[in-house]
Amino acid sequence: YGDYNQKIDYVFKVVLIGDSAVGKTQLLARFSRNQFNVDSKATIGVEFQTKTLVIDNKTVKAQIWDTAGQERYRAVTSAYYRGAVGAMLVYDMTKRQSFDHMARWLEELRGHADTNIVIMLIGNKCDLGTLKAVPTEDAQEFAQRENLFFMETSALESTNVETAFLTILTEIY
Ligand code: GTP
Repeated sequence: YGDYNQKIDYVFKVVLIGDSAVGKTQLLARFSRNQFNVDSKATIGVEFQTKTLVIDNKTVKAQIWDTAGQERYRAVTSAYYRGAVGAMLVYDMTKRQSFDHMARWLEELRGHADTNIVIMLIGNKCDLGTLKAVPTEDAQEFAQRENLFFMETSALESTNVETAFLTILTEIY
């Protein structure tokens, strides 16, 4: 009941982007429902989840949007980015190519989103440390150059997921 009657002070739209299979859907599942699905299927179109939290005594409703990394399953791009105040650019730290594509995703984001959007670079799957293909320093350097926040996460082990979302939401706020 408490939740039901909650007064919402702000609604923040945050979008997740990055190649297919980097873990966007599972990062969202972990943050919004504290769940993880090993057999996660490719996202088709667009989905979103909300989570309400309190930042600085204000009730913030985070509306997190997730879309397909695969070109053929992607929905209309401009509608996806419309109204977004935050973005998470996600790569898989065991797949160099997904990191190399970050520049392209960033370009698409900057072409469609508001100029004030808060962007965070996320290196996901840090639980697979032994298979690491993207050195932390490379990602840090890219993030610094492009003015992005940066964090390494694991949706599987819950590492830094909450922190990443809280950081971006606090920065937006
Ligand atoms: P698209 O919907 O195609 O864009 O993919 P996605 O980026 O949403 O990837 P998804 O969340 O569906 O995850 C892809 C695969 O990676 C699944 O098999 C997940 O179980 C796995 N996965 C996601 N996050 C992690 C993680 O932190 N660690 C490990 N080891 N596997 C993960």
